Amino acid sequence: MTLLKSKVLRFASLPSTNTELARLASAGAGEGLAIVADEQTAGRGRLQRVWSSPAGAGLYFSILLRPTIAQTYWPLITLMAALAVGDALHEACGLTTDIKWPNDLLSGERKVCGILAESIDTPSGRAVIVGIGINLTQNAFPPELADLATSIAEETGRQPQREMILAALLQTLARWYSVLDQPKQIIAAWSNRSSYATGKLVQVSNGDEVWQGTTSGLESDGTLRLQLASGEIKLIRAGDVYSVRSS
Ligand code: BTN
Repeated sequence: MTLLKSKVLRFASLPSTNTELARLASAGAGEGLAIVADEQTAGRGRLQRVWSSPAGAGLYFSILLRPTIAQTYWPLITLMAALAVGDALHEACGLTTDIKWPNDLLSGERKVCGILAESIDTPSGRAVIVGIGINLTQNAFPPELADLATSIAEETGRQPQREMILAALLQTLARWYSVLDQPKQIIAAWSNRSSYATGKLVQVSNGDEVWQGTTSGLESDGTLRLQLASGEIKLIRAGDVYSVRSS
């Protein structure tokens, strides 16, 4: 069990909180250092996508972790972060969310939070930057994404309190990080919280190939099991998952 003590640095504007934290980690920053920015001018998402980050519209947050668990289990870090964000949104805003594999937080099937975990080599060993982007208001993303994205304000009908969400998140991250060395507990909690864990008809794309199948649980390292129509189980380690409505 690891106890996470965090210290938060605040910035008005940064290109990306993940990039700045990676720089500080390479210069020797310790576990638990966190960064929040009011806006990002080059916010990054998974799969090289842009993460729109206008001033005051989102919570743009990154935290540095130096996990001691075997690296094969590091994919669990993103699942752990999703559980922590889910708890924080529930505690601070009363919002219940779903998790789309591996770590998108959804409300009413639209995305309210994205998580980008990046591992880096630093002089004191391999580390992980966990970047979390929470849409506080509809201004966080372009209007053309309104079918796919939503915000805390839209989902709760109230103006979200960024500081309350941040305070809750620091606590829930510490809570979940302390059980990262118990993969079964992370997998069980994630599976309990996600409608995508089992029995969901989905399409999965890794950029080159697309598979359709039914989700069939997670492996102990967080890999998604997808049962194809042939019965074969395809192990998905990276990619985008889309829910498919059965006709
Ligand atoms: C995704 O769903 O594609 C992940 C989005 C992650 C966005 C956050 S915002 C804070 C941190 N800094 C970044 O540049 N990206 C992450």
